[in-house]
Amino acid sequence: MKMPAAVIREEIRKSGVISFARFMELALYCPETGYYEAKKDIVGRRGDFITSVSVGSLFGELLAFQFAEWLGELPVVDGRLPIVEAGAHDGRLAADIMGWLRAHRPELSNQIQYVIVEPSPTRQHWQEETLAGFVGKVSWASQLSDLKNRQSATANRQSLSGIIFSNELLDAFPVHRHGWDAGNKSWFEWGVALEGEIFCWVKIQPSASGLPRLCPPELENVLPDGYTIETSPAAGDWWREAAAILSRGKLLTIDYGHSDEEMFSPARTHGTLRAYRQHHVSDDLLANPGEQDLTAHVNFSAIQKAGEAAGLRTEQFCTQPQFLTRILQRAVTGKTFASVDAKQVRQFQTLTHPEHLGRAFRVLVQSR
Ligand SMILES: C[S@@+](CC[C@H](N)C(=O)[O-])C[C@H]1O[C@@H](n2cnc3c(N)ncnc32)[C@H](O)[C@@H]1O
Repeated sequence: MKMPAAVIREEIRKSGVISFARFMELALYCPETGYYEAKKDIVGRRGDFITSVSVGSLFGELLAFQFAEWLGELPVVDGRLPIVEAGAHDGRLAADIMGWLRAHRPELSNQIQYVIVEPSPTRQHWQEETLAGFVGKVSWASQLSDLKNRQSATANRQSLSGIIFSNELLDAFPVHRHGWDAGNKSWFEWGVALEGEIFCWVKIQPSASGLPRLCPPELENVLPDGYTIETSPAAGDWWREAAAILSRGKLLTIDYGHSDEEMFSPARTHGTLRAYRQHHVSDDLLANPGEQDLTAHVNFSAIQKAGEAAGLRTEQFCTQPQFLTRILQRAVTGKTFASVDAKQVRQFQTLTHPEHLGRAFRVLVQSR
């Protein structure tokens, strides 16, 4: 069983400089030894970082309330209403959502088929353990395209009518790292090479056609030399594929990120890529591959455009506090959350306060 650092060294020795996206892919997803493969307890106070899920069950419960509203607008096909989650990690969010639906919307809950899209057999096993109380209600697909195949095999349909969603999935996709060469007025890509055993950054010479224009032309005269941004073709591809599968319903993602306008902030000359380990943030992205999380802000404008190009309508692009507050208001008015206890109030504050998870987190909802 090779550790990610050994696999990456081997690949660089064999084929030369690799893109940072490839480095990140191997560091996070090397079978059995990558960061997300080998470590189950990375999310939460005892892990490396917190997510809205690890704050407590309220996040999943509010999502469940919203999903019940959305599913209520959809026809039940073959007795089933699918909710598809990707990036489920240890299955905690799925358990929170299904637990709430079973307790508060039992009839609807009986119709729901909860599907987790999970390429990794290891993580699927963790999810099965967490979801032991929901046997028969949850099934797994190893990739999005399996949903299409599965449904068209059982019915004369190409696609899925329901909800496809993720929390902190897109920020975990590999990103390319680009730098601005102010002298030549062109972008280059940062690649990863080896100096002895140590990983180091090298500039990848752009091909004759160069890199595509990554910023509006008016910025090219003012961007400082070395200004860094990331792009994630993998995140865009995933969203496009999900959009293509959805025949009717909602495609939702929650994550930290920004729009095109916010991307070129003067405060972010070094980009948004970060490493996380035991709640410490580090800029040393090449250190200890497989031992630390690597993550970058999601470019929501690119994701939004990908969905719209696939025929989806953008219903909401807002902050997490706006999204959750609207749901909570409806839930309280409808008496579903008539008694919000002190624990839930604390969770809500953590999910929405700008000093916790309220500042950077955005929500994109598209529909067909
Ligand atoms: C930052 S964690 C988020 C976990 C959980 N959703 C939460 O909010 O606590 C990202 C998860 O996405 C998973 N992931 C990455 N690429 C994926 C893909 N193509 N399909 C499904 N899951 C993926 C990672 O393995 C990891 O478990």
